[in-house]
Amino acid sequence: MKPPPSSSPPSSATFLRKARLSPHLFALLAFILFITILYGEDLGCTLSSQFDFDQSRLHLDQTITSSTKKKLGEKLAFAVGESDEDCDIFQGRWVRDESRPLYEESECPYIQPQLTCQEHGRPDLSYRHWRWQPYGCSLPRFNSTLMLESLRGKRMMFVGDSLNRGQYVSMVCLLHRIIPENAKSMKTSGSLTVFTATDYNATIEFYWAPFLLESNSDDAVIHRISDRIVRKGSINKHGKHWKGADIVVFNTYLWWMTGLDFKILQGSFEDEEKDIVEVSTEEAYGMAMKSMLRWVKKNMDPKKTRVFFTSMSPSHQKSIDWGGLPNENCYNETSMIDDPTYWGSDCRKSIMNVISQVFSRSKVPITFLNITQLSSYRKDAHTSIYKKQWSPLTPQQIANPASYADCVHWCLPGIQDTWNELLFSKLFYP
Ligand SMILES: *[C@@H]1O[C@H](CO)[C@@H](O)[C@H](O)[C@H]1NC(C)=O
Ligand SMILES: *[C@@H]1O[C@H](CO)[C@@H](O)[C@H](O)[C@H]1NC(C)=O
Ligand SMILES: *[C@@H]1O[C@H](CO)[C@@H](O)[C@H](O)[C@H]1NC(C)=O
Ligand SMILES: *[C@@H]1O[C@H](CO)[C@@H](O)[C@H](O)[C@H]1NC(C)=O
Repeated sequence: MKPPPSSSPPSSATFLRKARLSPHLFALLAFILFITILYGEDLGCTLSSQFDFDQSRLHLDQTITSSTKKKLGEKLAFAVGESDEDCDIFQGRWVRDESRPLYEESECPYIQPQLTCQEHGRPDLSYRHWRWQPYGCSLPRFNSTLMLESLRGKRMMFVGDSLNRGQYVSMVCLLHRIIPENAKSMKTSGSLTVFTATDYNATIEFYWAPFLLESNSDDAVIHRISDRIVRKGSINKHGKHWKGADIVVFNTYLWWMTGLDFKILQGSFEDEEKDIVEVSTEEAYGMAMKSMLRWVKKNMDPKKTRVFFTSMSPSHQKSIDWGGLPNENCYNETSMIDDPTYWGSDCRKSIMNVISQVFSRSKVPITFLNITQLSSYRKDAHTSIYKKQWSPLTPQQIANPASYADCVHWCLPGIQDTWNELLFSKLFYP
């Protein structure tokens, strides 16, 4: 695989501006943001037209993995075998599999009530009976024993937002069955949730950092801030809690999607006069990617550890994207999108392009879990209205269920188990 060619950085077209907002403008912006959040993440994508998709960047994952292999001259940490280098496991199709799901919702006490769809009355079960089948090869079977044995005396850490939390919980559900009741526990304190397998001296952890960098949305419970601000160069604020992990799985995406330019704080959150610069979403996101790579380079030993980055989890907020009616969304969807070229209408492409650009110019070994396309078919797999609500529903909402359907998060068991099967594959058979 040839390395992708370089091209100009996303910053070239950026419009910088110091913002000291008047209270009126501030209120207006806050209102626009509030509406943006209400009506989905994808009202607009700043500069998206300038980030047209670059086909030459296909198969970045293979590029990263094989260059890593070459550099180390031998096998990666945790590897037990090799995969077919020519097979891109993220290209494939969903096939019906009655032996799924891999576990039952009721068997896994760790699933948060925002994801337990059966408990909250979801009537259909079909969404749980699909397996991901790559075109060129087959995925290895998820082996809980192998995974847990490999984590003996080690720390596995998921860092990111609520979608990464979902993948984290899926991983715990996939593993916990083979651990006796009195030899496991899960505890949350602030931003950190730790699942411990006592006999293995192993932990699987989740750290809440929706932007990876320090932000005004970092409170693990109260983080619904409409006017989001991220502090430049601040990755160590959270990163100091990730040190010593043997496997790290990062994600970040949804929180950047405000539909407006993004506010980057130059100084500190304590400064009285905040020095804020507004940049495009793509530039802000690229900055976070670069910070993440720098953190990995400085803190992770490529001979002993593995680092993953999970790509954007797609939402299904607008039925018109897949040929449905206006004003509808994933609510009442029980089948998947069968157009293999379906991608959706939001900023995924331009963000994917930023990721390609930043990663391809770096030698830091990160394995990219490219779950965006395979998940974008699955409009049937969201929690929709079958979840614990944050606040009681109003009569208007009850009359119009689509108005409060969650088309961002995913039911468990479900599609995020597949993300972990892909992670399993890349970890043990890179
Ligand atoms: C991820 O997969 C999609 C679709 O399969 C592809 O178009 C895109 O280039 C991939 N991204 C990277 C960074 O490899
Ligand atoms: C799972 O992994 C364990 C430990 O490596 C191994 O002994 C076992 O045979 C594997 N099971 C399957 C079904 O492959
Ligand atoms: C348990 O694992 C930690 C790393 O997570 C390690 O530092 C410690 O030495 C281990 N303890 C034992 C008793 O193996
Ligand atoms: C859900 O979709 C089915 C068709 O798939 C339709 O018959 C039914 O009326 C819809 N229910 C609601 C509440 O929209």
